[in-house]
Parts: sequence; C-alpha cells; structure tokens
Amino acid sequence: MRGIGTRSNESPTLADSFYITTPIYYVNGSPHIGHAYTTIAADTITRYQRLKGREARFLTGTDEHGQKVLEAAEARGMTPRAHCDDLVVVWKAMMSRLNIEYDRFIRTTDSDHEALVKAVLTKLWERGEIYKDEYVGWYLVKDEVFVTGKDHEARIASGELKEEDFRKIKEANYFFKMGSYKQQLVDHIEANDDFIQPENRRNEVLGFLRKDLGDLCISRPKSRMSWGIELPFDSEFVTYVWFDALLNYLTGTGYHPDPDVADPSWNQWWPADFNLIGKDILTTHSVYWTTMLLAMGVPLPKHIYAHGWWVSSDGDKIGKSAGNAIDIDLLVDAFGVDATRFFFLREIRFGADGGFSYEQFLSRYNTDLANDLGNLAHRGLSMTTNWLGGQVPPLGEITDAERDLRELATAALRTFDTEMDALHYSRALSALLDVVGAGNKYIDTQQPWALNKAGNTKRLQTVKRHVLEICYFAATLLLPFMPEKSAILLEKLGRSPHAAERSLQSMLAAGRANLDQLPEGLPVNVGDQLFPRFREMPDAIQALFAEAPAPKPKKAKKPKKPKKGAPVEEIEFGDFMKVQLKVGVIQKAEQHPNADRLLVLSVDLGEPQPRTIVAGIKSKFSAEEVVGRKVVVVANLKPAKLRGVESQGMILAAGEKEVLDLVGVDAPVGEIVR
Ligand code: MSP
Repeated sequence: MRGIGTRSNESPTLADSFYITTPIYYVNGSPHIGHAYTTIAADTITRYQRLKGREARFLTGTDEHGQKVLEAAEARGMTPRAHCDDLVVVWKAMMSRLNIEYDRFIRTTDSDHEALVKAVLTKLWERGEIYKDEYVGWYLVKDEVFVTGKDHEARIASGELKEEDFRKIKEANYFFKMGSYKQQLVDHIEANDDFIQPENRRNEVLGFLRKDLGDLCISRPKSRMSWGIELPFDSEFVTYVWFDALLNYLTGTGYHPDPDVADPSWNQWWPADFNLIGKDILTTHSVYWTTMLLAMGVPLPKHIYAHGWWVSSDGDKIGKSAGNAIDIDLLVDAFGVDATRFFFLREIRFGADGGFSYEQFLSRYNTDLANDLGNLAHRGLSMTTNWLGGQVPPLGEITDAERDLRELATAALRTFDTEMDALHYSRALSALLDVVGAGNKYIDTQQPWALNKAGNTKRLQTVKRHVLEICYFAATLLLPFMPEKSAILLEKLGRSPHAAERSLQSMLAAGRANLDQLPEGLPVNVGDQLFPRFREMPDAIQALFAEAPAPKPKKAKKPKKPKKGAPVEEIEFGDFMKVQLKVGVIQKAEQHPNADRLLVLSVDLGEPQPRTIVAGIKSKFSAEEVVGRKVVVVANLKPAKLRGVESQGMILAAGEKEVLDLVGVDAPVGEIVR
C-alpha cells in the first residue's frame, strides 16, 4: 500500500498529475476476479504514469451504505458497521495480495466523506436543486436503483428478474433535479468524443439520453432503511447510496464546496483522468454522477471508461450472485501474483467481455511468459554466463539484424506508450511481446552456439549484448504489469527498477527505444527460471475439479420466441452492433441431402473462401432461382450443423412463418450492412 505521505512534497502541476479511481465495491460479500480486474487495471496504469515521471493518485475503496449491505449484515446477525469493518479487512487483503498500491482506500463511512456528502447536499438544497415529492415505483435491491414500471414489467417478462427482486415503494422522498441537466450533458458528450469510452458505451449513453430523463430520488426514509448518511436538512431521511457513493471520487481529492475548507490541491487531481468502471454501472456514472457535478458546478471527469465483464464458460457474468466467483488466492497461489495481473490485462481488449477458463490461463502463461519472455531471459543470461564470463559483453559492429531489432523496439515503445495512455493494455502488451518474440527469433537465426563453437567471440558478444538489452527493455515496460517478476529480471541483469525508470523516461523524451543501456562489464546472474513452464494444470486447481461435483450439463438457453403481438424486448445499441451483416452473392445452390426444406448455398462474401450456408428457403425458391442473387448475411454467427451440414452464417429473409422474399441489397459484395 502506498501512503498519501509517500507523495513528493512539491505540488504536482496540472499537466503532470494523473488521477484515477475504481468503483468503490459493495461490502456484501468477498471480492472476486471481477473486482480484482478493475483494481489491477487502475494499479497498472498508475504505476505506468509514475514510471513516466508523472505524479499519480489512485483511489479505491468500499461502498458501505444502502439496503444491499444492510441486508448482508443482517444475514450475518451483525450491525452494518461491524459487518463492514470485518469485510474491509478481506478487501484490503485481496488488494495487498495483488500488489495493489492505492493512495487511499476510501470507505463511505469515513468521516471526511460523510462530511463532504452533507456539505454537497446542503449546497444543492440551498440552491433549490433538491425538492421533496411523493415517490411511487419499483426498487431493484440488487443494483440499488429505482426502475420504471415499464422496465419492471419487461425485465420480469423476459425472465431476467423475478418479482421478488423488486420492492414496491410508495413514500415521500427528496429528488435531485437531474432531468434539467440533460441537454447540457448531451452537449458535453457530443463535444467530447472520448469522454465516455469505449465508443459503444458512449453511443449507449447517448441512446439512453434520447429518452426522457426524470429527476433522481436521492433519499430513503429512515423508517424503511436507516443505514446511510443522514440528510442535513431532514433527519428523518438518509442519503440514497449512489448519491453518497459517487461523491467519493471528490472526497479522494480533498474537495469541499466551500473553497475555504477545501484542500487547496484538490483541483490538481480533479478532473480525474479516468473514472474507471465496469459496464454494469455505466448509467449511474455517465448520467447520475455527471449531472450531479453539473449541478455542483464542478468540472466533469476527463474520461469515464467502462470495461467489459469477465464471464464464465457458460456466458454468465462472474460474480457472487452467480455463484461462479473465481478465487483470487487460488490463482495467485498456483500461478503467482504477476502472472495473474498479466493474464487479465493481456487476454482481452479492455472494454470487451472475456470468458474465463483455467485452461486459457495456463495456455497464456505458457505461451507468453514461460516460452517467450522466460525463455528469452534464460537463453540470454545462461549463454552470457557460460560463454562470456557472466558479464554484459561489449558491443561490436552492428548489422541489419540488429538495426531491425532497434527499429522494432522503437516502434513498440511508441505503440506501447500511446496504447497505455488510452488504457489499451492488451495492445500495449502485444507490441512489447512482438519485440520479445523477435528477440527469440534473433537468437535462432544468429545461432550464438555456432558463433561460440567457431570462436567468433566478437559477433557472439554483439548478439548476446542485444539479447540482454531486449530483456532490459522488456523488464522496464513490464514493471507496471508485473512489478515483482520485472524487478527480478532487472536484478538478474544487474539493474534496479530506479535505473529502469530513468531509462524509460529518457527513451520517451527521445521518442526512440535505446538498446545501448547496459553498462559493459556489469555482472549478470541466471538464477532460477523466471516463469517455469507448467506441463499440466497446477495441483491446487486440479483438486478444485476433483472435489467439485460434476457440473450438470447446462442446456444452452434458447432465446424465447416472442408471442405474436407481445411486446418485443428492447436491446441495447451495443448488442445490435455485435451482429455483423455483410453483402454476399449466392454462387451455387443445391438441395440439402437430408432435408427437403433446406438448400445448401455457397455464398461469396468477398472473403478468400466462399461460405457454405444452409437456408430454409426451399418452400419459396428453387436452387436455380437464387443463384446470382445478392443477399444480406449474418457473418459472425457461430457455425452450426443443420441436419449434418455445417452452416457458416445465415441469410436474411422476410416472413415470420413462411419465406416471402430474401433481403437483397444493391451494394458491392463484402460490404458491411448496418
Ligand atoms: N458500489 C457500486 C459502485 C459505486 S462507485 C461510486 C458497485 N459495486 S460492486 O461491488 O458491485 O462492483 C462493481 C464493479 O466491480 C464493476 O463495475 C466492475 O468494475 C467490477 N466487476 C464486478 N464483477 C465483474 C465481472 N464479472 N467482470 C468484470 N468486472 C466486474 O457497483
């Protein structure tokens, strides 16, 4: 953990400071990899910004008020305060296990936070931004949000939620005039392309704002739920948990609505560079939080970044309620903390959903860490030890092979830096791992063993020197991702993380990678393998499966066909955009060998190979009739066997019961349809 006191005494300048926050986590259960994911991401970028020389501040913590936490405490027969104190220890332990260096772990029960919430409420109340009214509606405890009657019905009808997930509520409450900031918010989002990221989330929010935006109920009568911060202007009520929780991001800066009370450095951190969140809490952040800030006259964060979900192999979100939470301790015990941190940021694009499986973890570990990075380090260090006296060799004449490596490292450095600043962790890592891969290839082609045998010491020295330099380059850039293993690799190379920090800063200032950094004659040390290869799944994980009862084969949920006339469930814009539609032309059509109603089509989508698509259109069209027709194809549908023939997509046709016509379009083959 990093204490606030460890910051340098000099105030950071605006351009130099970096501030990032994670959501504050509900203490209604233990942490799982979903929570770890956001926190690792925030920690990694904070470490990177510090490595680059920026003053950085990283805030995380726990969300302790509200019905959900209260119910969890009651279930344990504890007071909410004692329950939270107890669980906070577990959350902090998870963070320390993952080497998370936060600047502050905020709890919404902290006194400075409670004081800030009250001060903000008082200010908004005095300004007439809050009013009292009667609320009638539905409350969804799981998400701690009110939902409209329409939403309530639709989510039950779709089978997503049950009646008992909701509470019917009719009571007097206080409301924040959220609706009156709608246009200002839309204008801000439209004027700032990268305010809400990734772009699909931005579109989702703009879509949401196209509908009416009501006011926000920001209180709970104590008679129903008393676990919260008391409203400063009515002691019968407590503050709505989201209104309270969102303000933590400002508490973390020392903000106060009264400038005389505020910490003078608060606006050196605010606006935050990133409010990092999962996609589940996009609306509360992009709409509630932003309008609260607009009403307070405080600038909006620079970016709200919503990453995707980790889902289990059957597609369910990993989480406590799904009962499929992955144990972080187990992963760390089995593979180590650095491999765990690395996996989550490397495996999927930040923003997209990712399926978790132990097999995938193992394979990623073996490929990137054991085979690529670990192997490069071992080859570089052991040959230097065996043939060159265990010291960084001098550099001789360089050839095109070395010049290529240097160019590649420069390109990787630039990509890495740009992608990291945009939180594209996996792309940054890809660029770096390309250099590691090139280092291994370089060894293969230069054949240092042959150079050694032939007594060509000069060339051997130059080659080994480059391999060690690539190891140093990789260890430097990997410090934020894998602080322990990178430090070990640096130590093997006779360098410290401090030296690496200076190297990175000078390379970034020059805009070029520098593969001449290691002092000649510096002793190196092979030591143990950095990432020993796993030939099979670690025992602790195997044991998990041995103990677990065989999972019941889960039937794939068949999407229910809506009844005729029944309201069709609305889908998010982002969901629609997952479907890739392409223009194709039917080149060939044949009768399906096992089904009268099906045709087997060969459709050209402008790809190297035509697709085989099985279509149930025989009732309307003969094989000859459809050849040459341009059609719209769902191109990213998982292939499926239809009566023994694999169909690699689907063509669109009109008609619910009977095919009336094929959807055709006058556009070039391969063109995307939106
Ligand atoms: N307390 C609110 C947040 C208030 S912020 C002012 C809350 N807490 S939570 O405990 O439910 O945490 C939600 C966050 O945990 C998500 O936004 C995400 O950052 C992380 N994750 C929880 N489960 C996850 C996955 N399965 N996958 C990825 N991250 C997810 O909401």
